[in-house]
Amino acid sequence: MCGIVGYAGTSSRVVDHDALDVLIEGLRRLEYRGYDSAGVAVVADGAIHSRKKAGKLANLENEIAEAPLPKSMTGIGHTRWATHGGPSDGNAHPHLADGGKLAMIHNGIIENFAGIKAELVAEGATFLSETDTEVAAALLGKLYTTEAAGDLTLAMQLAVARLEGAFTLLAVHEDHPGVVVAARRNSPLVLGLGDGENFLGSDVSGFIDFTRRAVELGQDQIVTITPDTHTITDFQGNPAEGKEFTVDWDAASAEKGGFASFMEKEIYDQPAAVADTLLGRSDANGRLTLDELRISPEELAKISKIVVLACGTSAYAGSVAKYAIESWCRIPVEVELSHEFRYREPIVDENTLIVSISQSGETMDTLMAVRYAKEQGAKTLSICNTNGSTIPRESDAALYTHAGPEIAVASTKAFLAQITATYLLGLYLAQLRGNLFQGQIKDILADLGKIPAKIQDILDRGEEIKSVARKMAQVPSVLFLGRHVGYPVAMEGALKLKEIAYIHAEGFAAGELKHGPIALIEQDQPVFVVVPSPRGRDSLHSKVVSNIQEVRARGANTLVIAESGDEDVRAYAEFVFYVPETPTLLMPLLTTVPLQLFACELASAKGYDVDQPRNLAKSVTVE
Ligand code: G6P
Repeated sequence: MCGIVGYAGTSSRVVDHDALDVLIEGLRRLEYRGYDSAGVAVVADGAIHSRKKAGKLANLENEIAEAPLPKSMTGIGHTRWATHGGPSDGNAHPHLADGGKLAMIHNGIIENFAGIKAELVAEGATFLSETDTEVAAALLGKLYTTEAAGDLTLAMQLAVARLEGAFTLLAVHEDHPGVVVAARRNSPLVLGLGDGENFLGSDVSGFIDFTRRAVELGQDQIVTITPDTHTITDFQGNPAEGKEFTVDWDAASAEKGGFASFMEKEIYDQPAAVADTLLGRSDANGRLTLDELRISPEELAKISKIVVLACGTSAYAGSVAKYAIESWCRIPVEVELSHEFRYREPIVDENTLIVSISQSGETMDTLMAVRYAKEQGAKTLSICNTNGSTIPRESDAALYTHAGPEIAVASTKAFLAQITATYLLGLYLAQLRGNLFQGQIKDILADLGKIPAKIQDILDRGEEIKSVARKMAQVPSVLFLGRHVGYPVAMEGALKLKEIAYIHAEGFAAGELKHGPIALIEQDQPVFVVVPSPRGRDSLHSKVVSNIQEVRARGANTLVIAESGDEDVRAYAEFVFYVPETPTLLMPLLTTVPLQLFACELASAKGYDVDQPRNLAKSVTVE
């Protein structure tokens, strides 16, 4: 939600970067965070020069091509997901203050901006936009010229003392070429260390082209960068430390690599995402070694309940986890949307393990829910894809997924990597608590090890489902049914279609069909059905086959995802996509993939931008 990048460099170093090039490259990589508008401000020739434009980054680039900016060594850049004020040129960041000498960009929401605005208006200030950011800029400008007497870092300290809410703020001033000052509370910011140049970014992709040395910043910190220095303090000005780490994503992994879209590329990355998430986490005897977990085995052995907190696709990964962890560990698992959790006085205590799942590690609702649970004494474990992000940093333990950077707004490879990580966690808990024999764990790990090749097999046959998707580009609505672990897969299949193809889509538990949803079925209504393995438990398979017949009898066009060899479904399906045989609990790692391909291809056939769907943002850092 809003991408932020800052740069302080020098012309004397070997590589002489123009700030604008660094900012535009960073914004290109951060554009997934929001694309309602984009803007930059650079300091050059003793003045601030700014350009900003509604719409995607390309509009800003056109604007700059028409009205070029002078070469500069210092600047800030922003890509916006609108909160206060619509996505117009005027509301785009940066916002100027101090008579145009100061520029500011912002990610987050300043909750008390109205009061501060009224105060500044009473003092004679005028505002050009509807944003909370312009108010923060005006406050900073005022404090800079008064109490802080020209000290930009001190002015930032004084300003943040007045602000409530969530914010990452970056500011430059024409009096201080070579300096960018930033502050963060509840919004992401990472520092990048270069050679004679330093960077700031909402995440490491903001500077991944220039350096791999990054510093995780803590809550309520201010950082001032120059080409050769970085100074971190708390909001009171006391020295503070950041934690340095090496970025293990490379720039190439954040490129499309010949695919038409990032989403398509990321779907095809999934064999590697699952394999990399499994890598190095068990020994040859099938013993799991999750050394990175910072909660002691004794404490984990004591937990009596798990609560999974997440939003969006990550929450569906949590729903899959519930089936596996309860089955393997016999621990009750609740799955709750983060934003619902803390408003209902949930029952959690020191024997509760909170497992948050977040690709970005920045989703505000999940962060707030984790903080709330921590206050109640619960242990918190974060499953996350982004090193240096806030949720794992604030959690007692972290289990990283190794999906690599996910750029497309609609999550795909992170989802499969999250499910894989929850399986590892479930098996680890089963090992600690003695719920499964070591041999059983070894067998499940061996089955998991075969998953990447099975995903590859599905991808290699992708055209089977893509051709169906192209034919269905004009359908107004698609329903998805599933049972057991197929239920969250159905929900995720529907979500993908809503997100990128803007088609009405609903996922249902197949057993719920006759309690309402079946009324929606009319002639030719497309219905996807995720069918459990015929080798699986009890009568699950036959129940779902009956459900296919029920919707088909009412005119539905049935599209079935079934296990290879399942001949029972053929008679009732207009189309069947077979996935390789695999144990039931691991099935979502396979059955999800054709549904992702379906949504991606259908949205592309409609001519939509599948990577940057309307109204959405990848990292939702406001509540
Ligand atoms: C946004 C994204 C979704 C994502 C959700 C949770 O809504 O568009 O794709 O699933 O946030 O994000 P997280 O980073 O916490 O997994």
